[in-house]
Amino acid sequence: MAALEKNSVVAVIGSGAMGAGIAQVAAAAGYRVKLYDTRPEAVSKALADIAKMYGKLAEKGRMTMDEAVAATARLHAAGSLADVADAALVVEAIVENLDVKRSVFAELEALVADDCILATNTSSISVTAIAAKLRRPERLVGMHFFNPVPLMALVEVVEGLATSEAVAATVYDTAAAWGKNPVHAKSTPGFIVNRVARPFYAEGWRLLSEQAGDPATIDAVLREAGGFRMGPFELMDLIGHDVNFSVTQSVFGAYFNDPRFTPSVLQQEMVNAGFLGRKSGRGFYAYGENAGAPVAQAEAAQPKPEVVTLSAAIGSDGRGHSGIVHSLVQRLEQSGFTVSSRVLLEGQAHDAAPALHCNGAAIYLTDGRSATQRAHDNQHADTVLFDLALDYATAKRIALARADQCSDAAYAAAVGLFQAAGFTVTLLDDVAGMAVMRTVAMLANEAADAVNQGVCTAAAVDIAMQKGVNYPRGPLAWADQVGIEHIVTVLQNLAQGYGEDRYRVSPLLRRKLASGAPFHA
Ligand code: NAI
Repeated sequence: MAALEKNSVVAVIGSGAMGAGIAQVAAAAGYRVKLYDTRPEAVSKALADIAKMYGKLAEKGRMTMDEAVAATARLHAAGSLADVADAALVVEAIVENLDVKRSVFAELEALVADDCILATNTSSISVTAIAAKLRRPERLVGMHFFNPVPLMALVEVVEGLATSEAVAATVYDTAAAWGKNPVHAKSTPGFIVNRVARPFYAEGWRLLSEQAGDPATIDAVLREAGGFRMGPFELMDLIGHDVNFSVTQSVFGAYFNDPRFTPSVLQQEMVNAGFLGRKSGRGFYAYGENAGAPVAQAEAAQPKPEVVTLSAAIGSDGRGHSGIVHSLVQRLEQSGFTVSSRVLLEGQAHDAAPALHCNGAAIYLTDGRSATQRAHDNQHADTVLFDLALDYATAKRIALARADQCSDAAYAAAVGLFQAAGFTVTLLDDVAGMAVMRTVAMLANEAADAVNQGVCTAAAVDIAMQKGVNYPRGPLAWADQVGIEHIVTVLQNLAQGYGEDRYRVSPLLRRKLASGAPFHA
């Protein structure tokens, strides 16, 4: 299957933020674009904005002035739906309402040629349902762009139950010809991104409601240790809490109240208060001229400990739990520590997992139990946990959790150790699974379920999360790196600790664990 020919007519119905972006991208790629909106002034505004954007791109050298002029000339206003009758592809980006979308497509179907492809940019309505009333439902497909369209590479090509494979393939190739990174998805609530991203927000809300830290602190940990471009709270402030809450409610309802997707009472309160984020001037953070910069919690400087030892063998292949601890040990060694191996004495309490030891503190990567629980299980009071980081070699910040039983001296040694290796150390209150680890484990769990349920492939979900919401690594590639065994352990411990179905382990993670095969070779 090939992309639609350049020069064919692409009609964009709805000329708001999304429609204008789609038109800009299609015309720049050489397609003739007709823009329609029930409000003609929206079309004029979109055409003027796009011409201005091309001008700016030409100034920056991202396209030539000739290309900008040619692309602008390929854009046309459609005065009525009948004006788009010669389209090879219609992309609808109107109001998010099933009845309105159905009636627009019914009207379109009576106007366009039989081989014209009908695409919807819906982000939350079933593609199957939008197509159901058409004479030829097989020609309707989801073409889900991300905001802002010219900057976000992802397009989810969403097949409803009736969508023909050939139509999906043509739209996939056409999106690629527009310079986008398309992925195939089946029409299921949230498609890929809006489903798999839920835990990024949901675990943030859980951490906040259990008082692991304040929003600025949790955001800083997800950013500076997790490598995410934004933390959950600053991101929700940007998206708008009304919009984010409504997507969460819609996915929760669409999955028949699966506890995985339970919305947060705290977010409901934010919406009730009208604290919607940037757009209302106040969300978790204050916006405007006098708003101070948020400050994340950081521990005061502690002395550098003298002796560090390591118990249990660690692998050096960079993958898996022990590979992660290995990369941290390397950073400690590069900071001047000699990390010698420690032989545990008989009868001495220990954990099979690798631990760093200094001044009596046993320091472990979180496994989904709280530090307090782990101290109890190991009968070792001086227990400190560290959180996952995207890359321990370069992370600026690291989060620690301290067992309630841990002595001040042992905790201070752990803080001093990480500070001496150049980390800003943040203390999270002792919540199971910490921040980055439980977020990544739940993202991988949701991604695995999407693959297990045939929504998309493992490659597609990882591309989607990187290109649609800028994640620093695909969730399944991240599970491979942390080790599927460790991810499953974290989820099992969360499930056991909370006793909630929310943390149930995806069957595909269990299958991967049993077979020993990673998601990506
Ligand atoms: P918008 O409100 O900026 O633009 C919608 C435009 O559609 C308006 O100009 C409106 O006048 C026009 N319109 C409404 N009913 C119409 C009809 N019957 N016929 C022709 N034009 C009509 O909305 P936005 O943000 O551009 O979103 C549009 C669609 O894209 C929605 O379905 C939304 O779910 C989807 N979407 C939005 C994303 C976002 O981040 N805003 C992301 C991905 C998808």
